[in-house]
Amino acid sequence: MSLQGKHILLGVTGSIAAYKAAMLVRLLVKEGAEVRVVMSQAARDFITPLTLATLCKHPILIDNFDPTNGAWNSHISLGEWADHYLIAPATANTLAKMAHGVADNLLLCTYLSARCPVSVAPAMDLDMYRHPATQQNLGILRDRDGVGIVEPQEGELASGLVGKGRMAEPAEIVRYLAARFMLSETENSPLRGKKIIVTAGATVEPIDPVRFVSNYSTGKMGYAIAEALAARGARVMLVSGHATATLGGFYDNIELFRTPSAAEMYETCARLFPEADGAVFCAAVADYTPAHPAEEKHKHHPDRPLILELKPTRDIAAEMGRIKRPGQVTLGFALETAAATDEGGGVAYAQKKLESKNLDAIVLNSLRDAGAGFGTDTNKVTIIDRDPDLPHLSLPLKSKMAVAEDIAEYIGRKFGGCRS
Ligand code: C5P
Repeated sequence: MSLQGKHILLGVTGSIAAYKAAMLVRLLVKEGAEVRVVMSQAARDFITPLTLATLCKHPILIDNFDPTNGAWNSHISLGEWADHYLIAPATANTLAKMAHGVADNLLLCTYLSARCPVSVAPAMDLDMYRHPATQQNLGILRDRDGVGIVEPQEGELASGLVGKGRMAEPAEIVRYLAARFMLSETENSPLRGKKIIVTAGATVEPIDPVRFVSNYSTGKMGYAIAEALAARGARVMLVSGHATATLGGFYDNIELFRTPSAAEMYETCARLFPEADGAVFCAAVADYTPAHPAEEKHKHHPDRPLILELKPTRDIAAEMGRIKRPGQVTLGFALETAAATDEGGGVAYAQKKLESKNLDAIVLNSLRDAGAGFGTDTNKVTIIDRDPDLPHLSLPLKSKMAVAEDIAEYIGRKFGGCRS
């Protein structure tokens, strides 16, 4: 997901969060977007036009005309230039004016005449945000005008109060915008409307009420795949064990099921799979679980060892593979300690799993590769297809988000009936 070459018109209004507009412009430019900024008069009290002009490399527009020479700042051509009009921060005052068609500054005139999609990132005090007037105005903008709302966050506000009203972080707003573009550009994706399960994260197997057996998986890869599929219009059922990764929160087509243990993950997958079009098994599921988890905390006995009996868990991917219908597409992961290039090692193990779990393809990654595996933001994978005539697809080291995009495209081709 990228903003390469996109024209983003940023509207900045008079909130203390306007200082974050500088970071927002910087991140947008870094993602390849061309940025122009229009400000309200009040925004100038919080951030200078010079700061924003330096970052976006264009003059900042504030008034309908230049008072020194009368030159008209055309709100119409601004709206025509933009691929997306993002108002961040958007104050309660600006939201109210947008909802009621007030056009008393350039930023608002541009809103009324813009033909491109518009989004707002509200920022205000918690009481202003939850006031029925503000909520009604947001409802009008969403339902009448199709304005996208980047929800404010809970947290400490400039007033010192704690609650919902803080503008979303610039990085989140950039992720939101990239997702919006991706959704509109993938209207014809073969994944549109497909119901896909994604398992992610680490399962947690209790030893007693305070201790557990688990692994280092953070869920980053699985969560990124869930978002990449959702961005292509799939209806994703994200079945997650313990994960430090989070969802951007702007996809209403991802449903999150929390399943801490392997047994709970199995139950949820078994319930969802018959109705699903496919599944990506990305979770690091425990192979063994304590056979007799204690109801009370184990006491420390320095004079004798504690022996835990472990029993095997059910292999979710293999069990789903057994009940798989024709047309359902499944993909698994093989994390190996042998080199991914090693035909006798990593590749052979992965191929065996592909067969035994009845998968359509398996994504092999090796802990031997720097930047691959648990916890990293990057991954280096090879996709091995069930079709022996298809060559292995070895991807270079990339961000997990970029790997997720490739995997989503691969699954899309499977649904599109093409050989990958
Ligand atoms: O056999 P191994 O654990 O290496 O296989 C890894 C693949 O199988 C991954 O796709 C993983 O999500 C899946 N798996 C599973 N249930 C298990 C163990 C692994 O779905 N109990």
